[in-house]
Amino acid sequence: MDQGEIIQNDEYFYGGSEPVYPSPEMTGSGGWKEAFDSAKEFVGKMTLDEKISLTAGANSETSCPGFLPAISRLKFPGMCLADAGQGVRGTDFVSSWPSGIHVGASWNKELTLARGKGMGGEFRTKGVNILLGPVVGPAGRVVSGGRNWEGFASDPYLSGVLVGETVKGVQGVGVIASTKHFVANEQETNRNPGNGAEAVSSNIDDRTMHEIYLWPFQDAVRAGTGSIMCSYQRVNNSYGCANSKTQNGLLKTELGFQGGVVSDWGAQHAGVATAEAGMDMAMPNGGDFWGSHLKDAIKNGTVPESRLDDMVIRTIASWYQMGQDKDFPGPGVGMPKDLTKPHRIVDARNSSFKSTLFDGAVEGHVLVKNIRKALPLKTPKLLSIYGYSAKNPDENNPTDGLSPWLMGSGSFDYQEFGAGFFGWSGATPGTTGIAFNGTLYSGGGSGATSQSLAISPYDAIIQQAYEDDTALFWDFHNGKPAVDPVSSACLVLGNAWAAEGADRPGLRDDYTDDLILHVASQCNNTVVIFHNAGIRLVEEFIDHPNVTAVIFAHLPGQASGKALVSILYGKENPSGKLPYTVARNESDYGNMLRPDQPEGIFRKFPQSNFTEGVFVDYRHFDENKIKPRFEFGFGLSYTTFRYANLAVEKDSNKSFEEFPKGKIVEGGQEDLWDVLVRVEAEVENNGEVEGKEVAQLYLGIPETGREGEKVPVRQLRGFEKVSIGVGETKKVVFELTRRDLSVWDVRGQKWRLGRGEFKVEVGGSSRDLPLVGKFTV
Ligand code: BGC
Repeated sequence: MDQGEIIQNDEYFYGGSEPVYPSPEMTGSGGWKEAFDSAKEFVGKMTLDEKISLTAGANSETSCPGFLPAISRLKFPGMCLADAGQGVRGTDFVSSWPSGIHVGASWNKELTLARGKGMGGEFRTKGVNILLGPVVGPAGRVVSGGRNWEGFASDPYLSGVLVGETVKGVQGVGVIASTKHFVANEQETNRNPGNGAEAVSSNIDDRTMHEIYLWPFQDAVRAGTGSIMCSYQRVNNSYGCANSKTQNGLLKTELGFQGGVVSDWGAQHAGVATAEAGMDMAMPNGGDFWGSHLKDAIKNGTVPESRLDDMVIRTIASWYQMGQDKDFPGPGVGMPKDLTKPHRIVDARNSSFKSTLFDGAVEGHVLVKNIRKALPLKTPKLLSIYGYSAKNPDENNPTDGLSPWLMGSGSFDYQEFGAGFFGWSGATPGTTGIAFNGTLYSGGGSGATSQSLAISPYDAIIQQAYEDDTALFWDFHNGKPAVDPVSSACLVLGNAWAAEGADRPGLRDDYTDDLILHVASQCNNTVVIFHNAGIRLVEEFIDHPNVTAVIFAHLPGQASGKALVSILYGKENPSGKLPYTVARNESDYGNMLRPDQPEGIFRKFPQSNFTEGVFVDYRHFDENKIKPRFEFGFGLSYTTFRYANLAVEKDSNKSFEEFPKGKIVEGGQEDLWDVLVRVEAEVENNGEVEGKEVAQLYLGIPETGREGEKVPVRQLRGFEKVSIGVGETKKVVFELTRRDLSVWDVRGQKWRLGRGEFKVEVGGSSRDLPLVGKFTV
């Protein structure tokens, strides 16, 4: 291609993202009135400099990644912002909670709420005012994405329900949740400007934006999230934190968001433009754009002071809303700058959440193969254990400042991580698919967990073997270990690693597949376990007759080994279900397999075109008639369930008019949440042990016939996890809201209720749906 053809200037893209100005001011609607009034009064007392100081981070004597300075004159103590969605990172005396993907695999709303409270409580004790999570962007579009594990699922409905519960849990204990990364932050490759290119642009049509990417943020706003973090990449060629359509339009107008928008760290690339586009706080500092520059812009009238007031009111209102003005630990009290220097112990762990950590770890394990009753194990005589992911990494020890430990890098290659995260030379990011130095409790980067204690699979197996007098052999290093042929079972533990800053090289790796095949060739009861920070393909070995069981163990947090052993030995019955689709071939994912690269005339402005529209994950497999290996929603149990007695009832007292009429409250028009249809079904445990089943409801919205408005065959619109005793039957109820039954109408700029016959399917996975019903609107 001729140099001349390469687009050199941003002007080429002007207008790609619709301008929406001015930035809507906070109104105090919904439950925010009191906090809004208090904030307005408080901000009214601030000088210009004081207000400016609350729009950007400052240095502090803590390890909080973000810090808003105190205003002592007004007795404002300052605020600490810290990572992340799976527990406090980078300090001592905190827990490693199950990661987002693990929570997604649990499909358990109550447990998600409890995790939010337990996790939130630790942030509170440490003096963290704003928790930098949960994550619903990435939404899992790019299957090899490096940060998919931080989010819950590759389905907006499942993510939406779980983000709502998490926000409620975290904020219920007075910590502000910063739901991130807004919006369409789907790949790590070119997430930031560099190497002569701007950050990648996620190019999305309006309907797909609403039905897939905005959907879970809508649930977070409805749950009252006090903060939203704008993302690194561009959306329709306008930077995430300077995008007036997404921030002023979608978030603050359509969804009626009352809190503040904080930039991702270093995601601010303009001053006046970000202020006008609705960004409220710059992190980690005001840098070249805000601070004194924002002050100048206010003084010379370029940015109206009312916009500055609104920024600060939004921040302070969240502070009041969560009750942080009363009785909240000082900002960063438990976050010493250097853990290797003397400091006060602030133990944030709370023993009443021990069972939540354990149950959470158990329920995100998904059993996908179990033949010849391989599992549960029955007092094996000899267990042979293989694979690099069985034991703890050799180090879990803080060092001063930036360190591998801080990034959760006990198990993986820190140089390679640094190449992706910090841009170091000497290694190529995204080269290695596995973490070779030990088991994974979380993925890597700012979302990594810091474990004050963690039980590896190997630790827990030894204890169990000790009780049972089981003989143990192990080899964690050899790719072709010797195998004692009288082994009762051989466990192979591998992983699929991922971290912020780079996308994954693929969805499988030769080393681990060869190890599995090697063991299986000599051991007729080979059980495979993956700690997978994303989708892991299994074609190389899944049909091998000696591979008798396979578990996706995801990222369980600190109770990992204990949870795994309880499942292996049948003390717990697996109940997780896949929050994504496992394909047979990488190519089955089509254009969504890999991140887009800078190329052609767009070499300086990399483009990622979401041409598949709403057809992501199982919607793509259904639409293109591709048979997955393991479908979305799939997972085995040690028992079996039978579905019966579907009942579908429309609520005749509700309006079935085409468009909602309600006023905008947090989350959008209030009647979007009206329950229009109730569905009931019965689930019987007809197997031999007690177990939990995730009953799932999928809805086929009638084709609209409008051009370009193809509707997926089915979409998840309800799920209930129920515990059922042997021979017992439980009723499950699904409530379908107006939003659940609607498509986004691009012309009307509203959710439009489907018309015609809706298909209702209920069952145990997206392709095992024995109950079928319908209703007509
Ligand atoms: C990440 C955010 C994180 C922030 C602060 C950024 O690199 O993208 O998710 O919250 O750092 O650590």
